[in-house]
Amino acid sequence: MVQPIVLSGALHLMNSIQKYFPNTKVAEYRYFPDNELYLRFPFKIEDHVLIFQSMYGEPDKRLIETLFAIHTLKDLGAKDISAAITYLAYTRQDRRYKEGEAVSQLITLKMLRDAGLHRLLTFDAHFHAGMPSFEGLEIRNMKLAPRFKDFFKDLNDLSVVIGPDDDALELAKLLSIELGLEHGFIEKKRLGDKDVEMRSCSIDVAGKNVIIIDDMISTGTTIVEAIKLLKSIGAKDIYIAATHGLFVSNSIEKITLLGVKKIVTSNSIPNPYAFLDLLPSIHEQVSKWSEQ
Ligand code: R5P
Repeated sequence: MVQPIVLSGALHLMNSIQKYFPNTKVAEYRYFPDNELYLRFPFKIEDHVLIFQSMYGEPDKRLIETLFAIHTLKDLGAKDISAAITYLAYTRQDRRYKEGEAVSQLITLKMLRDAGLHRLLTFDAHFHAGMPSFEGLEIRNMKLAPRFKDFFKDLNDLSVVIGPDDDALELAKLLSIELGLEHGFIEKKRLGDKDVEMRSCSIDVAGKNVIIIDDMISTGTTIVEAIKLLKSIGAKDIYIAATHGLFVSNSIEKITLLGVKKIVTSNSIPNPYAFLDLLPSIHEQVSKWSEQ
């Protein structure tokens, strides 16, 4: 039996976690006056543990907490440590784009492995430069796109699914198969952290409803520019699905001002549109691990 333990970033998932993992415990944490972390497990640690975490909001703090947790659980006798990290921070820097850059994705995963993590489940992590591989760490990166199906099943066949860049084409394809719709992508060029250029759409969207699907919405720039382009070429109603709704600064306002019909994200990060519960997927994967 796995012992489920919740860290600070997954507290918003507690109700759902308890439905699937009734014996869940919560780690105790606080910050000292100088902002250093205090972490404690005020209960007996079993052989097999499953950490729940999400690294949104303050990724540095969440990462340190996760590393402290893994080290401590090992010290306290855990022999097998798995983690469901619903939003894994630092994955977007997946390679060295400019000389001298820290490849934060690989550093993060290596730190988790070195701390003693054996299995990692995450969702739509930005592994576009190739699936990272570290001996001793099993990584399962689950693609959520098909699971958005129920939110859009009432759309008629005059609808299409579009990825707002070529990385999101696969997500668009996976969801479109479920819905029996056409799919395509937008050619996007990123010009800066908050600046993108949308060049063209690979399929005709004139007169059609469009579901835009992406792995995450951060500043909202990608979605906003995608909506503008799609509308300029005749798209009708716009629907949005994204695995991670980070929604930094005023991105919700920027998106809703454009009159979208629906926004749905998973509950990897708390936000007003977090309607897709990840717990069934987490439970499914943890059951598979238990059978191994
Ligand atoms: C990019 O590679 C990702 O798939 C997202 O499109 C991007 O991170 C979204 O960021 P933002 O909302 O800031 O445009």
